[in-house]
Order: sequence, then structure tokens, then C-alpha cells
Amino acid sequence: MYPIKRNRRLRSSEALRSLVREQIITPSDFIVPLFIAEGKDIKERIPSMPDYYRMSLDHTKKEVLELWNMGLKSVLLFVKVPEELKDNKGTEAINPKGLMQRAISAIKEAAPKIIIMTDVALDPYSSFGHDGIVENNKILNDTTVEVLAQMALSHAQAGADIIAPSDMMDGRILAIRTLLEQEKFHNTGILSYSAKYASGFYGPFRSALDSAPGFGDKKTYQMDFHNRKEALTETELDIEEGADIVMVKPGLAYLDIIRDLSNQIEIPIAAYQVSGEYAMLKAASQKGWIDYDAVMYEQLVSFKRAGASLIATYCSKDAVRILG
Ligand code: PBG
Repeated sequence: MYPIKRNRRLRSSEALRSLVREQIITPSDFIVPLFIAEGKDIKERIPSMPDYYRMSLDHTKKEVLELWNMGLKSVLLFVKVPEELKDNKGTEAINPKGLMQRAISAIKEAAPKIIIMTDVALDPYSSFGHDGIVENNKILNDTTVEVLAQMALSHAQAGADIIAPSDMMDGRILAIRTLLEQEKFHNTGILSYSAKYASGFYGPFRSALDSAPGFGDKKTYQMDFHNRKEALTETELDIEEGADIVMVKPGLAYLDIIRDLSNQIEIPIAAYQVSGEYAMLKAASQKGWIDYDAVMYEQLVSFKRAGASLIATYCSKDAVRILG
């Protein structure tokens, strides 16, 4: 009780504050999403994601080396697929010479120790812009899962370290794990987007990859953001099915979900600070309305405080710069 207990005592200098600090972030907490495009010498701005680029493989190779040298240890790959290669079956997704598969080997060559995570979902490959195969305006679950497992296998064969299914089909983790085991990819990990909500925050990402749904929305497979308990059910199932890491997405509006999971489960949790969150930060700072570095750092710390041990973020390089 006052004056015996003065809470300000431990806040009186930076040295004291850092002594009692609960959370710290380091470059190795970050997963860096990369957008990869076909072609040569391409480094295209993404209008809705300032300072972020789509890069061809030559630039991607330079980029990953730079990331590794900055202490950033993992990348999460997304590809922009040329329109003429899209269909309703994800044919290009399992092409051993596809852009994703070539990107994996190119990155392995440029930065052999960097951890390569690959997005598994059909949307960049789908003529309908959906994460699964479409029939009569419905997204089919089980036939999609078969293709996703093949897609995961082809990423593993190309050298991916961790497969990251973001599609939210039921049963896909078990199907992927089973096929990987069968094909002797015992050590290829799975980072499952377990609690992925149908969110308006993905808008800039969809324009970056030209992957917006052609009809309807993703609410029959991604989660309803009015719900909290469902996140635990989804995540527990994915863990039983063989996920090594689970993810909550989006990030900031879902800190309660990260905290719930972190109270209940024992495997590492990743948070994804998604494209819309990044766009908001950048836009407000470009207007001079917020201090980008300060607000970005505060948000990243909040993910760790909520219980995430990894953070996928477009701010990774900026964060390393301010971590010094
Ligand atoms: C594709 C996928 C999406 C994101 C990651 N993987 C978009 C979506 O589900 O529509 C979003 C990432 C972001 O917004 O930064 N399945």
C-alpha cells in the first residue's frame, strides 16, 4: 500500500525498465513473407503495401541473402501465377517446374541455411480465386485436400523446410502429414494456419497476388470472426493431425485468440500481422499521423505478450533496423 508500494519505482530509468522487462523481440522471431513473380529483373511496387515488392527469382536470391545477413532466419513464400496458368484444379500448383518449386531451389542455393516455408492453398492458382476446387459455386473439401497434399509433397521435394497450409479445408493437415511420412519427408515440418478468420484485412495481399475470389467470399471455409471457441477446436485438431506450429491470422484484432491458445496448447504459436495491418500502419505514417517505428514495435511486442513465439510480418526488416 502507498507509500510502501510505489509502482513507479521500477520505471524510473531505462536500465531498470529493461531489467524487469517481460518480453523481448529478436530477429529470429520473425517470418518474412515474400512475393515472387515470374520473369527477370522484376522488382515491382505493390501499391497497397508501400515499400513492399513482388520480385523475380534473381532479386529474390539477393533479398534472402540480405535477410539472412540481417539475422532473419525464415521466409514464407507466395507466388503470383500468370493468368494463363490458372485453372480450377490447381494443375500448376503441383508442377515440379512451377514458380514456387523453382523459387525454393533458388533460395536454397542463395541462402542454404534460411528456413523456407511455403504457402499451400489453391487461390493463387485458381481461375476462381478460391483456396479450393469449385463445383456449382461450392468449394469442395475432400478433392481439394488431395491436391493440397500433392502440392505439399512437391514443395518438400523441391526442398521446402516447412509447409504452411493456409486454405482452411478440413482434414488437410492429416492428409499432408500422411503423404509426407509415406514419401519419407519425416523432417519436413507443418505450420498450420489453424485459426484463420474470414477477414477484410487480407485485401492488399489479394491485390499483390491478383488472387481475390471471383465470386462470393471465403466464409464457408475461413472462420467466422464472431467466434472464439472455434479457434481452439480448429487448433487442437490440427495438432492431433500433425501440425508442428500453429498460426492465428490476422494478428492485431485477434490477440484474444492468441492468448486463449497460448493458455491451452503446448506447441509454438505464430501470429500473422497481415497485409491490411501493414497497409494501415504505412498509410497513417505516410500521412504523418503516427510514428511508424514506435507503433510497429508496440504492435509486434503485443503479439509476443499475447503468447505468440513467432511473428509473420511485412515489417520484419524495419523491425530489425530499429532493434539495432
Ligand atoms: C491464401 C492466403 C491469404 C493470405 C495468406 N495466404 C489470403 C486469403 O486467404 O485470402 C493473407 C495474407 C495477408 O493478408 O497478408 N490462402
